[in-house]
Formats: sequence, structure tokens, C-alpha cells
Amino acid sequence: MDKSINIQKLHDLKTKSRMGGGEERIKAQHAKGRLTARERIDLLLDKGSFREMDAFVQHRTNDFALDKQKFIGDSVVTGWGTIEGKLVYVFSQDFTVFGGSLGEVHAEKICKIMDLAMRNGAPIIGLNDSGGARIQEGVVSLAGYADIFLRNTLASGVIPQISAIMGPCAGGAVYSPALTDFIFMTRNTSYMFVTGPDVVKAVTHEDVTQEELGGASVHSEKSGVCHVAAENEADTLFLIRKLLSYLPQNNMEDPPFVETGDNPLRMDEALDSIIPDDANKPYDIKEVIRLIMDNGQFFEIHENYAANIVVGFARLGGHSVGIVANQPAVLAGVLDIDASEKAARFVRICDSFNIPIITFEDVPGFLPGTNQEHHGIIRSGAKLLYAYCEATVPKLTVVTRKAYGGAYCVMSSKHIRGDVNLAWPSAEIAVMGPDGAVNIIFRKELEKAEDPLKRKAELVAEYREKFASPYVAAERGYIDDVIEPKETRPRLINALEMLENKRDSNPPKKHGNIPL
Ligand code: HXC
Repeated sequence: MDKSINIQKLHDLKTKSRMGGGEERIKAQHAKGRLTARERIDLLLDKGSFREMDAFVQHRTNDFALDKQKFIGDSVVTGWGTIEGKLVYVFSQDFTVFGGSLGEVHAEKICKIMDLAMRNGAPIIGLNDSGGARIQEGVVSLAGYADIFLRNTLASGVIPQISAIMGPCAGGAVYSPALTDFIFMTRNTSYMFVTGPDVVKAVTHEDVTQEELGGASVHSEKSGVCHVAAENEADTLFLIRKLLSYLPQNNMEDPPFVETGDNPLRMDEALDSIIPDDANKPYDIKEVIRLIMDNGQFFEIHENYAANIVVGFARLGGHSVGIVANQPAVLAGVLDIDASEKAARFVRICDSFNIPIITFEDVPGFLPGTNQEHHGIIRSGAKLLYAYCEATVPKLTVVTRKAYGGAYCVMSSKHIRGDVNLAWPSAEIAVMGPDGAVNIIFRKELEKAEDPLKRKAELVAEYREKFASPYVAAERGYIDDVIEPKETRPRLINALEMLENKRDSNPPKKHGNIPL
């Protein structure tokens, strides 16, 4: 055959492949406010870096006249490229082909790219937009999902896995993103649920829309399934790029160092007056974080879920760090089920990927009540404890105010391998707050007192003087140093650099048994 005809055929096939389900379906996709699989990849990756694989793959199904409907490349686009010059693997489901549904070859394409990502130690990013299992392919498509789930699990803790939900993601299909490290969702155009509104109606008689059942707001505020909810698709992809700037390529590498230009010795006087005189008054821990971190930048994860604890990534002296901070401005920073699980998961991701953990502590304890007890605060609190105990990355703690009770032990205390534990002079480290403590230990005396209110105030003051300070803990070496708040940034950077070559490990075992 003529050489030029051969090349023309190649061009024709590639053009056809790039058109996915065809012009009409691309228009329909745009009309829904959604981009195509390829447009998303172009926005995600460095310009011109994408190299596609398997663009010629076609399904092998004949049932339901599917052999009459073939789309070159099938319903997912896969390949690799770079983000800020670093290698990443990507798959992007093409809703214009069979609604992005997952059949045998769709799954094979994803598995191939996941295997490459694992072998070469680079992150994998999945852009999800799919009607779920390809109905015409039956159990073969279920097998395809299971092949992916296995790879998600084996890759967990080895390479960063990031999912973006940019359209439907329903049924068992939700479990691949759920097994990955981070789920991003696009507001108003994406949803995730195990069973859709029709099944919900049939089973529970509830009337609910897709958005109410599993939109980005629900999952980023109520269920916690979504880590980052973005305003639109471009924003979603931009935020994924940003997140990756804090992560190493794999578990054998250190996270990237970035010259930020912020002076490591910078001290901010505002920190010295940030704690209110009244120990029960709130303040915003995010303000503390911003004043300390490089250029005030903080990439928050789970921003609107369990806001009584704050987690996210930042840089300190150019080093990537993970931050866990009780938030006194929400529910007084109490630890409840959701906050414990949110923080536990974050601690584990930092530990998996060698990212030092900085804990800012101001916690009155665990949330009391039947609701919390009956839903298992014991188990959830234990998850956070387990995660901190198990973590071997550098762990720095700053007690800004309250460190009461079990929560003192949990929040990266010295006893569970905190490397450097600092406290501000405003720290109150005790078994419980002065009020509660006096009520318990002086109950009989108060019952008999002539003026119980006056006596209680005296006892509270005495207790506060004696125990509600950082010095009892510092006397014992449970706190390594008490520092002025404005010194926090230089002290943390110094400690991070001191710990740069930290080596610590856990006893050899198949795996631990975190209380799930
Ligand atoms: C095959 C599918 C499909 C599917 C959609 N299509 N879902 N083809 N298998 N699962 C096709 C449609 O036939 C249509 O083809 C095109 O994709 C676009 O679909 P529309 O319905 O026109 O789009 P829209 O109105 O936007 O609705 C999207 C949708 C709806 C909400 C996703 O298509 C839908 O409900 N699909 C079925 C969802 C579902 O029940 N999936 C199985 C879930 S169970 P044409 O040719 O007209 O463009 C599951 C189990 C996984 O996934 C288990 C893993 C362990």
C-alpha cells in the first residue's frame, strides 16, 4: 500500500478516536456545563505533555447489537504527562462514549496505566465521568471494576492516587475513588452515590434529587467523602495541580522542597496577642496557621467537613508539611467522631508520604453525649490515637491553649513519639478544665460551704494556678520548651531541619489492626 495512504489512515483513525462519541454528544456534554475527557486532560497537564496510550482499543462485545456501535479508544482516555514538570499518569472517562460506562476494555486501559504508575512510582489521577458498569457487558464490567479496586488498594500508600468526580459516579463505581487518597468534586455538575434517587424512592420512600443525595456540597460538608469541592471544572483541575505540589512522587521519596522566599526567621508579633484573655473565648486557628506558614499559604483539605479540626498542607521554610489543628472557633475545638476520623486519615496520608506533621493543639477534650457514645466515639477517637502513635514522620506539636484529658495524649503528645513538643505560655495542660475538676474533687466541700460560689471561685483559681499552665508538663519534660508565640515559625523550621534525617520505624508485622 502507498506509504502516504498508510499515514493518512493513521491520521484518520486518530482523528476519529479524538472525536469520542461524535460532535453531537460533545455538544450535549458542553451544554451540561461539562468539558470532554480530552479537554480536561489538557487543562490538568503541562501544555503539550500528554502522551496517549491505547487510542485504538475497541470493545469486543456483540450482545445487544453493541458490535454495530464501536468507538475507537472506547470510553476512557489514558496516558501520561507532566504537572509542573513531574510525571503523572491519568485516565479520563469519556461520557460521550456509552456515557463513559465501564466495560472490559475500559477497565483494561485503566489497569494498564495504573500498573505503569506503580512500576514507575508516579501519581495517578482519575477523572471520573461515567454512567457506571456498562450494562450490556454484564459481569465482565463488574470484573473490570474489581480489577481496578485491587490495584487501588495495592497502590495505597505507594503512589498518590487522586480522583476528580466531574459527572456521574454511581453504584459500585464509587468505590474506586473511595479507595484513593483524595476526592475532588466539581460543584453542581457531579454527584456520587451507591444507589440513585429512584432506588432510594423505592426502598425508603424518600424524595431526593441527585444533588441532594450526593452532590459536592453533601459530600464535602456532611459525609466527608469529598476532600475538596471546587467551583467549576477548571478550578477542580487547577486545585489538583496545586495539591500535587506538596506531595512526593511516591512513598520512597521526600516531598518537594520549594524556595518560597519567606524569611525562616520571620516573627509575627500578632501571634503574641491572638489568644484571648478569657480561656473560654474562641479565636481562629487558621489565622495562627497563616501567620506562621510560608507566605501565609495553606491548602486546606476537608474545609467544610468537621470544621472543629483543621487539616491541610503548607510550607515551612520551603519544606512541605501537613497541619492538624484543633479549631477553637468551631465547637470550642472539641474532638468528635467526624473530627477524629478526618484527622486520623490525614495523619496517615502524611505518614505514608513522608510529610512531617505539625499539630496545633487547643482542645477541651472529646465531645460528651449519648449521640457520640452510641455512634462509637471510642472507636473513632482510637483511630486518631492509632494514627498518631503509628506515624514515624517528624512530629512537631505546639500547645496554644487547652490540652485536656485523653485529647492531650492523642494530639501528638511526647508519649506517643512527638519529636518536639512546644507550648505557648497560655497553654493549660491538665486532666480537665478547672471548672470541671473543682466540681469533682471538691464536691463535698462545696456542698458544705457557706458561700459555695465564692469558695468555688477560690478553688478554681487555685487549680488554674497549679495545673492549668504549661509548666507542670514542662517540669517533667513532656513539653520540651515553652516559647513566645511569635517565635513559633523560626522554632518549627529549626526543629524540622533538625529532624531532616529522622529514622524511626514500627515493629515488623503484616499490618496493624487500626480500629476501623
Ligand atoms: C451503557 C450507558 C450507561 C451504562 C449511560 N449509558 N449509562 N450505556 N451502560 N451504564 C449511555 C446511554 O445509553 C446514552 O447512550 C449515553 O450513555 C448517555 O446517557 P444518557 O442517559 O443519555 O445521559 P444523561 O441523561 O446525562 O444521564 C446520565 C446517567 C444515566 C444518569 C448516568 O445514563 C443513567 O442513569 N445511566 C445508568 C446508570 C446506572 O444505573 N449504571 C449502572 C450502575 S451499577 P447514547 O447512545 O444515547 O449516547 C454499577 C455497578 C458497578 O455501576 C459495580 C462495581 C462493583
